[in-house]
Amino acid sequence: MSTHDVIVIGAGVTGLTAALRLVEAGQDVLVLEARDRVGGRLRTDVVATTGEPAPFEIGGQWVSPDQTALLGLLDELALPTYPRHRAGDSLYVARDGEQRRFAEDLPVAETTAAAIERLTKVLDGLAEQMDPARPWELPGAEQLDRISFRAWLEEQCDDVEACDNVALYVGPAMLTKPAHAFSALQAVQMAASAGSFSNLVDADYILDRRVVGGLQSVPLALAERLGDRVRLGQDVTLVEWTDDGAVVHVGAEAHAARRVVVAVPPTVVRRIRFSPELPAGHRIARENQSFGLVIKVQAMYATPFWREAGLSGTGFGPYLDVHEVYDNTPDGEDRGVLVGFVSDLTADELGALDADARRRRVLDALAAYFGDAAREPVGYVESDWQHQELTGGAYGTSFGVGGLTRYGHLLREPLGPIEFGSSDVAGHGFQHVDGAVRVGAEIAQRILGRLTGGERE
Ligand code: FDA
Repeated sequence: MSTHDVIVIGAGVTGLTAALRLVEAGQDVLVLEARDRVGGRLRTDVVATTGEPAPFEIGGQWVSPDQTALLGLLDELALPTYPRHRAGDSLYVARDGEQRRFAEDLPVAETTAAAIERLTKVLDGLAEQMDPARPWELPGAEQLDRISFRAWLEEQCDDVEACDNVALYVGPAMLTKPAHAFSALQAVQMAASAGSFSNLVDADYILDRRVVGGLQSVPLALAERLGDRVRLGQDVTLVEWTDDGAVVHVGAEAHAARRVVVAVPPTVVRRIRFSPELPAGHRIARENQSFGLVIKVQAMYATPFWREAGLSGTGFGPYLDVHEVYDNTPDGEDRGVLVGFVSDLTADELGALDADARRRRVLDALAAYFGDAAREPVGYVESDWQHQELTGGAYGTSFGVGGLTRYGHLLREPLGPIEFGSSDVAGHGFQHVDGAVRVGAEIAQRILGRLTGGERE
């Protein structure tokens, strides 16, 4: 049996960040990753097209200015970024199916625009008062956690198109759940985690930059620094623990450590058996978490044809199968790429279709934005996270109505020698790579404090 200071379970950005910070502080660390690659929800696939095969980012990809922990790590790892293409007009497909071009403000009726502005002000005000790491402490948190975001919006405003758009920004576009399935408090936390609701709804802000070579470069670079401390194909099945340490089992092999970091999404913790069992509160809190569901779709074209028409490639269509779409052409690529998202209830419906029928529905929606040329891609790829047991959905996990105030505080609570974390339990950067970096660094700090700060081992 090998013996270490700390064992990290999971080589996503959370686990790798924690591991690197611990190693830098002189700790002996072992990282055990179940998959045959590092990166978790960050992955680039090289996909066949009618021309040269091309790399597509299947998971996370964008970085925004508020994500200072990730931006700092990108600097540290010397990973360059480039801005998302956004020159040109954007498109909005309205409730009546009419397609409208716009440059700045969403082209909706004045009354709808005024209602959206009012809702934005209210949500910005609430987000400003909230510490996203402790949303249950917001004054009035219990009331906001008792009501679904959709019902709350309808209480505030009787303009249906305004409600649909604001619901879209947090529901389909972020938590990837229908707005009736999470609370108003969870919506405010999503906004607070990005600095404000205004940031969250500003595509130019929240989807600002990409990393050269893909966001997967971050876990790859972290793993390179960790070297052979990272072991792949190690699906941890059992953690035996006492207050003094733990033994981590992978099949017939076992490794001992003074501390263990379980750096996997809360819903995936249940794949691991703990002996003694986790306290009921811990188990129930995680049982109340669930992944959202979004199918990220990318279509490659012989050229970025929309640019010739003066279009940015950005489009919003709350009533279409693909509710948002962007130009996703990588720097230096001559062919054009559109990325779109099929979320929550629509993802259920399209997910049940066979692959050809689903592709037809997606291309129909892209054609509703960009015309018939969008029906003729030279390459096409869909993300598959919901089919992967080691993830289980996309982008992240959240609570249903009432869960945040009841169980939120338990998700990050350490237990004896065990720490739990992933981007799903972050405050700032919640559900984003920035949150993974923050949670990983915080866990490393806490462990170092306990191992070196007067605790007698
Ligand atoms: P993550 O899930 O990545 O890592 C957990 C690791 O634990 C995995 O590698 C898993 O295999 C491993 N594991 C699980 N159980 C195990 C066991 N028993 N034993 C050993 N290993 C085990 N973010 C962003 O900032 N910008 C964006 O544009 C997007 N967009 C986006 C799109 C899509 C489609 C997805 C799916 C996600 C995003 N995200 C995003 C979210 C972002 O990708 C995500 O928040 C982080 O990558 C999560 O990193 P973690 O390390 O916390 O978990």
